[in-house]
This record gives sequence, structure tokens and C-alpha cells, in this order.
Amino acid sequence: MITFTINDQKVTAKKGWTVLETAREYGIEIPTLCHHPAVKPSGACRLCMVELKEKNWSKLVASCIYPVAEGINVYTETPRVHNVRRWILEMLLASCPASPEISALAQAHGVVSTRFKIHDPSQTCMICGLCQRICEEVVGLSAIAVVDRGVHKKVGSPFMRPTDVCVACGCCLTVCPTGAMKDIFDTVRGEPKMPLTQLAM
Ligand code: SF4
Ligand code: SF4
Ligand code: FES
Repeated sequence: MITFTINDQKVTAKKGWTVLETAREYGIEIPTLCHHPAVKPSGACRLCMVELKEKNWSKLVASCIYPVAEGINVYTETPRVHNVRRWILEMLLASCPASPEISALAQAHGVVSTRFKIHDPSQTCMICGLCQRICEEVVGLSAIAVVDRGVHKKVGSPFMRPTDVCVACGCCLTVCPTGAMKDIFDTVRGEPKMPLTQLAM
């Protein structure tokens, strides 16, 4: 077992656990978006940042991908953590401004506006890739792809052509943290299509 502290509380974790897994084990809240316990973490959204402190230094790390280590001191609610969280939420408000889920999350953290440029006011997808990872790692299919690069990056079916690979299990809809998959889903599936209301929502 590995012993360290979170917010000055002594905690123990199994080798290979992440800081986030340990925090959740102890009921310590850390906000996340792209994390799901059923798939490997990707570190895409950075909302789960925490601060590691020693005597003469400190650094911010993404808790969902940071492995536990003996003797580290983790803090989840420092001014630096709050600043980076607010900054990330502002970025998300700009990148997916039409997502009610992101607006509500930002508001819950006191963020109601963004200083960043909004390129597409109708955008809801944060391109976290969670839907793709669930489809591949849990369902065992490759019905979703992240295509293009930079500002043109988007989520859809491979080559952006509707695919018969999708079995309409609804897993991607269930895990999507922004609600974007509701809009993208019909572009992923080939015919015949089942109404969204009959899938897991
Ligand atoms: S559709 Fe949802 S889960 Fe998929 S990349 Fe976009 S925000 Fe993430
Ligand atoms: S509904 Fe289709 S695209 Fe979504 S996880 Fe299931 S198989 Fe993959
Ligand atoms: S939840 Fe850790 S990076 Fe997204």
C-alpha cells in the first residue's frame, strides 16, 4: 500500500491507483469531465487538476492520470487549483457555448462568462473523446472517430460517413459530459435508425 496525504488527511492507496481514484475512495470531491471509471483515463479536459506541494515547490497535475506515490502531499482546493479550474471552465464556455451541462457546471464554480473567443455559438462538443473510448474499450467497436486537426477537429463516424458498425447500445450517449452526442449520434449511425428516446439517455 502507498501512503500519502490529500488536504492534509492521511490516505492509503494501492500501487497503480491515480490520485483521483484515491480521492474518490475517501469521498474527496474533484470535478471531472473526460474521466469515466470504465475506460482508461486520457487527461483531455484538465478539469481535475490538483496541486502537489513540497517545502520549496508546488505543481499542478491532472489527478485522473497522476499515479499515487509514497509521501506526496496533494491539495484539491488551493487558490492555484481554483484559478486553473476557473480558467478551464472559461475555455469550455468558449469551446462549447451551447452545452447546458457545461454552463451549469461553470456556474456551479462561479464562472458565468468567458474571456475567450467563441468560434461557433452552436457548438456543444468539447472533443474529449470519451464517447470514442467507451465505444472502443467497453463496447468493443470503432463506430466513433475524432477527425481532422486543430480548430477543424470534430467527432463523428470514421471518415464522417454513417457506419453500420454501431449497434445503438447508447453507451456513448450516456457518458457524454456535455450532451453533444445527442446531436452527433444520428450522423454516426447508418440505417435503420432507432429513435433516441428508445436508447439509454
Ligand atoms: S460527443 Fe461528448 S463524449 Fe464525445 S467527444 Fe464530444 S463531448 Fe466528448
Ligand atoms: S451507440 Fe454506437 S457509437 Fe455509441 S457506443 Fe454504442 S456502438 Fe458505439
Ligand atoms: S477528468 Fe482528468 S483530465 Fe479530464
